[in-house]
Amino acid sequence: MNILMKKTTIIIFSLFLLLGCNRGSNENNCTNLTKELELQLNFFAENNSDPEKVARTYTDSSGYHMVAFRDWTSGFPAGTFWQIYELTQNEKWIPVAVANTVKLEGVQYLKSTHDLGFMAFCSYGNAYRLTGDESYKQVVLQASESLITRFNPTIGCIKSWDHNTDKWQYPVIIDNMMNLEMLFWASKTTGDPKYRDIAVTHANTTLANHFRDDMSSFHVVSYDTITGQVEKKQTHQGLTDESAWARGQAWGLYGYTMVFRETQDPKFLDAATRIADFMLQNLPEDYVFYWDFDDPAIPHTERDASAAAITASALLELSTFEGVDQEKYRTTALKIVESLSSDQYLAETGTNGGFLLKHCVGHKPAGKEIDVPLNYADYYYLEALNRKKQLNLQ
Ligand code: GLY
Repeated sequence: MNILMKKTTIIIFSLFLLLGCNRGSNENNCTNLTKELELQLNFFAENNSDPEKVARTYTDSSGYHMVAFRDWTSGFPAGTFWQIYELTQNEKWIPVAVANTVKLEGVQYLKSTHDLGFMAFCSYGNAYRLTGDESYKQVVLQASESLITRFNPTIGCIKSWDHNTDKWQYPVIIDNMMNLEMLFWASKTTGDPKYRDIAVTHANTTLANHFRDDMSSFHVVSYDTITGQVEKKQTHQGLTDESAWARGQAWGLYGYTMVFRETQDPKFLDAATRIADFMLQNLPEDYVFYWDFDDPAIPHTERDASAAAITASALLELSTFEGVDQEKYRTTALKIVESLSSDQYLAETGTNGGFLLKHCVGHKPAGKEIDVPLNYADYYYLEALNRKKQLNLQ
């Protein structure tokens, strides 16, 4: 090989490395990445065959943190297996996904939490979408019925938590935007507008009260149950009441992007783009957010890969809407996905307890789940890969 040929080979090789996906060195690198994800999820499944519980996180020193269906994260392992099935069309994932779905049957009757969208829609909702099995549909409809019992028309929101009654009369957290998707689905499925009306009212009230002028959001807004007015704006999982907790920003972005998809009301598209633009101003060089945008310890503090994964998935959807800077949102989403698919964030097969992503933060102020894998990070990372594939993006 002469010098010119060698140089050409090096340039072509480098171009392949720059072309999306990761963990590969040729044009098949997307396929290689998918195979690697399947191997890791095999390992995860083999280590998580508990008939009742699912894995929420893992550390080498403590092993798995297993949780029952009541935990807000219970739907994500099932959802992850449905997502990998969708991505690969490999039918071997169906029984694994089903086994992790049906252990959550009790979720549909819970009336003590707002997290029913996460729990029921990511598991049973995906199961119904991908298989068409009517028995899954009934569970999601019952979960939607349970969720709307938490709506208070005086306040115009679904109540998030029943705990800390000494602190908050009626806490609503930005995360709650995510549970609205199931309600839009319930109205489309039954023809009854009541679920959708509640979702739209919740989205309007949250838009009015949860955001600062720069479109960063508070984590918790609590309302006075008599007057319906805001009583407090605080944080629970962020650094301070005034800070921008990274995952909260991601929930808001995903939430308003989804509400625009469901309503086509330009007010919600405007909210989604303004949230996105605030977040994009806070992207570190490697496109994976620090756990709180206002942590004075940046860059010597933890990343939250879960916030990055949720954001990537949301930006991919946002980039499909007319009237927005599609190129900006698509490019940013792809850069986030590429960074998450690098050695820095994607675990080696057989490590990390079988979870895909490393370096997430669950609840830093409580000293819990700091720099760990989290089941919801994997779910939204795979959803982003599915959306990328559906959009034919490298
Ligand atoms: N919904 C709780 C969290 O994002 O940690």
